[in-house]
Amino acid sequence: MNSKFVVLTIFFAVVNARLLYNPPDPDKVAAMARYIIHNTDWASVATISTLKTTVGYPFVTLKSMSDGPSDNGTGIPYLYMTDLDLSGKDILVNNNVTIMCSLAETDYCKSKTWDPQDPRCAKVIITGKLLKVDKGTDEYAFGENALYEKHPSMRYWPKGHGFYVAKIDILQVLVLDHFGGAEFVPLDKYFDPDIMQRLDSLDFEEIMVIAVNGVYN
Ligand SMILES: *[C@@H]1O[C@H](CO)[C@@H](O)[C@H](O)[C@H]1NC(C)=O
Ligand SMILES: *[C@@H]1O[C@H](CO)[C@@H](O)[C@H](O)[C@H]1NC(C)=O
Repeated sequence: MNSKFVVLTIFFAVVNARLLYNPPDPDKVAAMARYIIHNTDWASVATISTLKTTVGYPFVTLKSMSDGPSDNGTGIPYLYMTDLDLSGKDILVNNNVTIMCSLAETDYCKSKTWDPQDPRCAKVIITGKLLKVDKGTDEYAFGENALYEKHPSMRYWPKGHGFYVAKIDILQVLVLDHFGGAEFVPLDKYFDPDIMQRLDSLDFEEIMVIAVNGVYN
């Protein structure tokens, strides 16, 4: 009788890389909005221009952004602002802003060969008021830590420029992630306290079985 050896080698690589887990189903627009805000690190920020040459025109800049540490996204975009630059000056006059973040900022759309303007290359567009977070508060510490974790060089930005932690007090959330137009996301759905846990549970799909080798004799 042949002896039988079974050699089974299983390698698991548990990859805890947030960007590896896939975006939620495009029908789940609230989850998609939170996914984009948490997994992108900068936003286009639109303000109403106060430049002498273009007063009243829409104006756009880029700001680094974070909605919380990697394990605790809040959905609230925190930005590091200064009164010295273009958008910083605009919001002193009018703090109504719109920001846009897109998965085009990650490798995801390229991996699907989706053009940045392809609706499936998901975008979230958030309108609200840009507010200074009060220094010395828990929220200031939270926002600053969230920004520093994602953008370590911020710690060394020139102190003399008066950077401060700001957040967007959200009035409206729009998601464009499929054909057929953008969808409004109700704020109670966007701020659903369990939404990130549901996103995190997707991490399990990223447990990659690198190799399963069976040798039978
Ligand atoms: C996440 O951050 C919020 C503050 O925005 C805090 O209340 C909560 O305890 C934090 N949760 C974890 C798991 O750290
Ligand atoms: C900002 O938007 C609000 C509507 O949400 C509007 O009432 C207000 O006038 C705007 N502020 C400025 C300075 O235009």
